[in-house]
Amino acid sequence: MKVLVTDPIADPGLDRLREAGHEVQTDYDVEGDALLDAVSDANALIVRSGTDVSRSVFEAADDLVIVGRAGIGVDNIDIEAATDHGVIVANAPEGNVRAAAEHSVAMTFATARSIPQAHGRLKGGEWAKGAFLGTEVNNKTLTIVGLGRVGQEVAKRLDSLGMDLVVYDPYISEERADRLGAELVDDLHEALGRGDFATIHTPLLPETEGMIGEDELAQLEGGYLINCARGGIVDEDALAEAVDDGVVAGAALDSFAEEPLPDDSPLLDVEDVVLTPHLGASTEAAQENVAVDTAEAVIAAFNGEPVLTALNAPSVDETAFPRIEPYIAVAETAGKVAAQLLDGRITSVEVTYEGDIAEEDVDLVTASALKGVFEPLEWQVNAVNAPRLAEERGIDVTESKTRQTDDFQSIVRVTVNNGDDSLSVEGTLFAGEDPRIVRIDGFRVDAVPYGHMLVARNTDEPGVIGLVGTVLGDHGVNIAGMYNARETQGGEALTVYDLDHDVPDEAIETLLADSRIIEVTEITLDDEAAREAEL
Ligand code: NAD
Ligand code: MLT
Repeated sequence: MKVLVTDPIADPGLDRLREAGHEVQTDYDVEGDALLDAVSDANALIVRSGTDVSRSVFEAADDLVIVGRAGIGVDNIDIEAATDHGVIVANAPEGNVRAAAEHSVAMTFATARSIPQAHGRLKGGEWAKGAFLGTEVNNKTLTIVGLGRVGQEVAKRLDSLGMDLVVYDPYISEERADRLGAELVDDLHEALGRGDFATIHTPLLPETEGMIGEDELAQLEGGYLINCARGGIVDEDALAEAVDDGVVAGAALDSFAEEPLPDDSPLLDVEDVVLTPHLGASTEAAQENVAVDTAEAVIAAFNGEPVLTALNAPSVDETAFPRIEPYIAVAETAGKVAAQLLDGRITSVEVTYEGDIAEEDVDLVTASALKGVFEPLEWQVNAVNAPRLAEERGIDVTESKTRQTDDFQSIVRVTVNNGDDSLSVEGTLFAGEDPRIVRIDGFRVDAVPYGHMLVARNTDEPGVIGLVGTVLGDHGVNIAGMYNARETQGGEALTVYDLDHDVPDEAIETLLADSRIIEVTEITLDDEAAREAEL
């Protein structure tokens, strides 16, 4: 598989990909048409914040499976477009948290004690001892906006240096703040008003863009602002003015609305603003961590394993994956068979779990069932975009679970409905590993999923199975297996034939011409999951 890397990542990440047998192409600073060209045959794209992964990238990259972000922020990646194209987006959310937190603490001291300004003056030959009177953090109040991974690490560090903590984060529990000895305040202005220092740790979202503007800076009057999160959250013009006018005592920024920071940025002209060029994650340890974590995510995606850091795909616990993994193919197969057996437009899909499997987190299994249902409709679908496609096309999806099951340890049932009729297909695992279709539309079968299958419904009369065998034989179609069920003696029967070839139309016509045959449907399970299911 080909992995295109368009922002520099640490060597251990590149080595890990090569060790796993993948081709790695590094193409740093590539953009515009050159990026579209480079990504056109890539199976994975790895970026940091320097590559704009817009919708056009996904449109140009038919074979793309995953975009890996070697870091936390994904505001440079169009996740909607990725999901539309069935491409996983995964970040590396843990590896640089400590580095970012340490940088935020360093920037707090840098601005409180004017360290860069004093350093500059001394290097310029001036002993400016009387020019700087700093502020201690001890006994001061720190307002933390966004108490996520980085915010919590900053809280721990600055708490231990004697600061009181106030938090504004509308999405966290009181308990999280309590655990850190912080007071959760539900109004941003109040939180800023209480702080001597305010440090920002939210993602850049439409909701947080421009969140700290003139009014908010006025609340922080006489305090210091630190932003090592993302540019765009703080209004840079307003901040430059607030510091210049003395409304805010000082500021320290590591990230900017436009990077590199333009030469005409007003921030460059204000003495009490400390700036670093997006260095929060720039430690050796952090860069190695995120590079290796991203490589592992890419390798998992290539191997069809769950990507634990995926932002747009159903997640699954690493320890639970071995228990649910075999049911992914079962669900997909049941979905495929059900969709091919039911005529008409599908309006709803129900995925039911019975027995042991009902204990598990089955989001990924349900997404795979939907993939199975939609694939015969020739939608460009995978487990990433299947739930989205269902929603967009107005198809109701329900999931139900029960611990009870009659005959099997676990059952996955996919029921498709077209508004008038519904049809269910049940699958399970024999001996814990062999996929079987065990019920079709109420008929109890033991069918091994196979690349080509024929499902025939007929009256339960002598000679019908012989007829099907003869007609298929006449057209050179070999039967690999056969699984028969009937309602009652002489009632309706359903037979599943596993075939080594597809069935010519004339064979179907000949079969349908016989009065004993009610319906014959050819089923194709020819994708990888189905092939894996073949014995
Ligand atoms: P996270 O997702 O763990 O935490 C973000 C927190 O922000 C969450 O608790 C969330 O509830 C909160 N939040 C969301 N919307 C909010 C709002 N409107 N008001 C207040 N709080 C809100 O993210 P993280 O891993 O802690 O990263 C935090 C930020 O730091 C991100 O922007 C990330 O990109 C950035 N970052 C920068 C560097 C760097 O090099 N400078 C390094 C790492 C992370
Ligand atoms: C991040 O979001 O992880 C940081 O911005 C680090 C980076 O990639 O520079």
